[in-house]
Amino acid sequence: MGMRGKFLTFEGVDGAGKTTQCDALAQALTARGVPFVRTREPGGTPLGEELRGLLLQRAMEPITEALLMFAARREHIVAVIEPALAQGRWVLCDRFTDASYAYQGGGRGLDAARLDTLAQWVQGALQPDLTVLADVAPELAQARRARVREADRFEAEALEFFLRVRAAYQARAHAEPDRFFVIDGARSPEEVTAEILQRLDPWLEARQ
Ligand SMILES: Nc1ncnc2c1ncn2[C@@H]1O[C@H](COP(=O)(O)OP(=O)(O)OP(=O)(O)O)[C@@H](O)[C@H]1O
Ligand SMILES: [Mg+2]
Repeated sequence: MGMRGKFLTFEGVDGAGKTTQCDALAQALTARGVPFVRTREPGGTPLGEELRGLLLQRAMEPITEALLMFAARREHIVAVIEPALAQGRWVLCDRFTDASYAYQGGGRGLDAARLDTLAQWVQGALQPDLTVLADVAPELAQARRARVREADRFEAEALEFFLRVRAAYQARAHAEPDRFFVIDGARSPEEVTAEILQRLDPWLEARQ
């Protein structure tokens, strides 16, 4: 059929509701018969999942962290994302490159120009067709995730870290308003899902 799939990414601080919305979108696409792949970063491939384990648990300095994130991303793009899109499948990805700018850039303080170089190297022209940013106050996100599980290496960071992460996400959304769809993650999950589906409606209609 030759139609390329849509590449959707989900971003936001830990506990913002990315996985919840990814789940809901996966259900909605299944119900509509849209073929898709559901995946996440860091991870999404066997090697990427091993790197994820290291990234979430092992202490390392920020440039090492950024390099491992992009190494996992390279595998993910080549082995999973590009093939799926080329076959006409949609890709729902829980975090992607914007997270590197938010966490390794905003959070850890790495220069964005360095991340630009890595992004250019690892993904070339590949960009998400739409990036859903669940924007919530880090205090709220922290309270939500504390209810469900123990903190990993990122989640153990202080509130100030997440304030920088959130600000970096907001700045990226502001710079690329067509690619980003910013939702108020403090609203109910159902309201948020409905908003996202409305935004996707033209693409879903085009498939009919
Ligand atoms: N809109 C919402 N309103 C209230 N609670 C929510 C909302 N969205 C998600 N939650 C709850 O908050 C918790 C964190 O949500 P979720 O796991 O989707 O966040 P996340 O962004 O994927 O977090 P992480 O980055 O840690 O994976 C879950 O218990 C989830 O049920
Ligand atoms: Mg999640």
